[in-house]
Amino acid sequence: QPVLRSDYQPPAYWIDNVELDFDLDPRETLVTARISVRRNAQQSSSTLDLAGENLKLQSVAVDGKRLEQTQYQLRDGGMTLLDLPESCVIETKVLVSPVTNKSLSGLYQTSGNFCTQCEAVGFRRITYFLDRPDVMTTYRVTIRADKQTCPVMLSNGNRISQRDLDDGRHEVVWEDPFPKPSYLFALVAGNLKCHRGTFTTRDCRNVALEIWVEPQNIDKCEHALVSLQKSMKWDEDVFGLQYDLDIYMIVAVNDFNMGAMENKGLNVFNSKYVLALPDTATDEDYMLIEAVIAHEYFHNWTGNRVTCRDWFQLTLKEGLTVFRDQQFTADQTSAAVKRIDDVSGLRAGQFVEDSGPMAHPIRPESYISMDNFYTATVYRKGAEIIRMYHTILGAEGFRRGMDLYFQRHDNSAVTCDDFRAAMADANNVNFDLFDRWYSQAGTPELTVSEAWDAAKGEYALTMTQSYPPLPGGNPGTEGRKPVPLPVRVGLLDAESGEEIEQHGGVVMLQTESETYTFGGLTAKPIASVLRGFSAPVRLRMQRSNQDLAFLMAHDTDSFNRWDAGQTLATKLLLDAATGVKNGEKLKLSQEFSDAFGRVLSDDSVDEAFKALALTLPRESVLGQEMDVIDPDSLHTARQFYRTRLAETFQSELTALYKNLAADGAYKNDQKSINRRRLKNVVLAYLSALETPESVSLVADQFNQADNMTDKQAALSLLANLDVPARDEALTAFYKKYQSDPLVIDKWFAVQAVSSRADTIEQVKQLTTHPDFSVDNPNRVRSLIGAFTQNQVRFHQADGAGYKLLADYVLKIESANPQLAARLVAAFNSYRRFDETRQTQMQNELKRIAEHPGLCKDVHEIVQRALHF
Ligand code: ARG
Ligand code: ZN
Repeated sequence: QPVLRSDYQPPAYWIDNVELDFDLDPRETLVTARISVRRNAQQSSSTLDLAGENLKLQSVAVDGKRLEQTQYQLRDGGMTLLDLPESCVIETKVLVSPVTNKSLSGLYQTSGNFCTQCEAVGFRRITYFLDRPDVMTTYRVTIRADKQTCPVMLSNGNRISQRDLDDGRHEVVWEDPFPKPSYLFALVAGNLKCHRGTFTTRDCRNVALEIWVEPQNIDKCEHALVSLQKSMKWDEDVFGLQYDLDIYMIVAVNDFNMGAMENKGLNVFNSKYVLALPDTATDEDYMLIEAVIAHEYFHNWTGNRVTCRDWFQLTLKEGLTVFRDQQFTADQTSAAVKRIDDVSGLRAGQFVEDSGPMAHPIRPESYISMDNFYTATVYRKGAEIIRMYHTILGAEGFRRGMDLYFQRHDNSAVTCDDFRAAMADANNVNFDLFDRWYSQAGTPELTVSEAWDAAKGEYALTMTQSYPPLPGGNPGTEGRKPVPLPVRVGLLDAESGEEIEQHGGVVMLQTESETYTFGGLTAKPIASVLRGFSAPVRLRMQRSNQDLAFLMAHDTDSFNRWDAGQTLATKLLLDAATGVKNGEKLKLSQEFSDAFGRVLSDDSVDEAFKALALTLPRESVLGQEMDVIDPDSLHTARQFYRTRLAETFQSELTALYKNLAADGAYKNDQKSINRRRLKNVVLAYLSALETPESVSLVADQFNQADNMTDKQAALSLLANLDVPARDEALTAFYKKYQSDPLVIDKWFAVQAVSSRADTIEQVKQLTTHPDFSVDNPNRVRSLIGAFTQNQVRFHQADGAGYKLLADYVLKIESANPQLAARLVAAFNSYRRFDETRQTQMQNELKRIAEHPGLCKDVHEIVQRALHF
């Protein structure tokens, strides 16, 4: 019963406005909806299908007349109304039960408060409705609840009245003047405290900013508030987009399936992306909070004012909004470092997805559960596609396209084609071929070869694109054609390392293969290809270790400078892994060691860049480059390199650590953040020495840290070791932060990602810890989710890791399908492993598939995996 993109039909009726009444009660909330509908002139049907799930229908009336059972049909997933007039008011009354709703979709309770999550299709769990994004309407919402337990009652838009009722309850009315799709509806009620601020728009309108949290967290909101203010300013400066209501609210909740939700005027956030104090949140947490706050704020224009016609268009708002938040963070921090972080994330997550059973185009063709398509592909690859328009058009051309997009489509629900047309029309550019980026799945390979003609002084790069085959016959993988690839190229003088200016720029590869010739040269240059990662491809280029080391030292493009180092390290680590497998004695490559030493002593780069350049590729990224992933050999090889590098550069690393550690009391300016990042990379190398001195260095940092960044970094290093300091630190950490769930998540996670051989036993033990709960997604992700990312331990040869995951997927699936489906996706790469592991994972997948009454979310992932 998949939904197909090609099946899109406009609705039979539009909705002019809706009035919702909530009589809140944990077990029996009464929801009354009055929907004014009007027949769609293009359709002639008098039949209306309303979506509805898990609702106890009390009554339905049309224009004030209660319907008999014969005048409507209740079916699985909704209700059908027959013989409706051209326009009418439909009133339904339903009961829902927030306290028993563990799916965290629809209306549910979290820490005793009421809260909603409607995207993608949660609104139908609140009332019968045309729960589809192309039906936009205005909402008036009345909330009544007990004044004691629910002093605060929030919904979208403006609060227009408030009064006490006589039975100890009170009532509030909210009205949102902007038409919106149902997925942007939100309601929050409970015992919350508010951290307030203001923002004055460029047009001098005052906006009240309110961050609502549980009372004990009221001192942890300032960073989120400042992040919001920065985001509002940035969107005005860069895109000319101002906020449109007089109030902007953010609520932090502990139980949330995703990061956050952009509900109009009332964002709901996973508390992880709001709450921060230096003692409880790391520098990375601070950065993520700023980025997620920005992301949700930017949705107000890219998502809310202009929304998606149907869910297949999700990347229209998500790809674009991720691109916008990436640009924002680049402007707040360092563009080079941000780009490296984003591409690492893309390669580690999206590339894997795009080569396995879940491979899909950024605009999918079909789904069983839409929730399964909030993916790295739709979000991150989608953002890369948007970035390519920006690369081709430049910032100004991109802005012209955005302006036209809003001019044409404000207050409407549109498609990815509409966006592409706006970019093209505003700039008089033909983007027809870009359509392929929306309809084809898989990561293109860009093969580049070079030729040097000394006689003519010509250097040529031949670029060829292709798609590696995907076995599963997924939609979007047949008959794939070449995609337009903007490839940023530069040439460096091989002697001096200087940039040869006249040859730098972007070439457009629009066909399968093309040769680009650069003339007027006196010696063979060194090419830097795909600068800034200008297209989301796997680059295949034969380069000597020497050339890579050269680029690592001289490239003027920071991204490629970093990437050259990663490519070199990958080559050497894969060789080393083969060596491990063949029982050879490993040796640290002199070339790599020299290059590492140069980076270490290079004072021209900032500390954050240096931290990245000194970090070896992750085991999961290395695994992708193997024909058959061998987690054990990879782990051994990488550990060997870490230890040997630490031994070789022990004195330099120690001196650098001392220098960075002498910064004194915690500060959170960018320079201090960069220095902490480098310091903790250096500490990780030193800890690989596993000498008493290095262990006490780590333990000292743990004990003396005045901030969570340093504390957590030290704790994760200790967690890998087999020393008394490990248990001491874990115990002390738990004791200190016992009452702070977000910090306790970190405590679970450092143990789950430990490289220790007994990690799986520890994880099992931790599932019996009183603080572990399958009802809280953050906690499940911090233990079970983190464990699945621990390549060497999750893929332990006896299959115990697989069994553990499958057991938890089955424990969770009926209560929270979305969460279970995310977890089970860890099996998606099973074809990449040896036969024994493949069979073990396949058996667990089969065991899950055969589970009686399996939810459709998990069913969809597991079936795709099994048929791959
Ligand atoms: N629109 C939200 C965001 O990216 C994510 C909501 C995801 N919801 C879901 N059920 N998968 O900001
Ligand atoms: Zn989003």
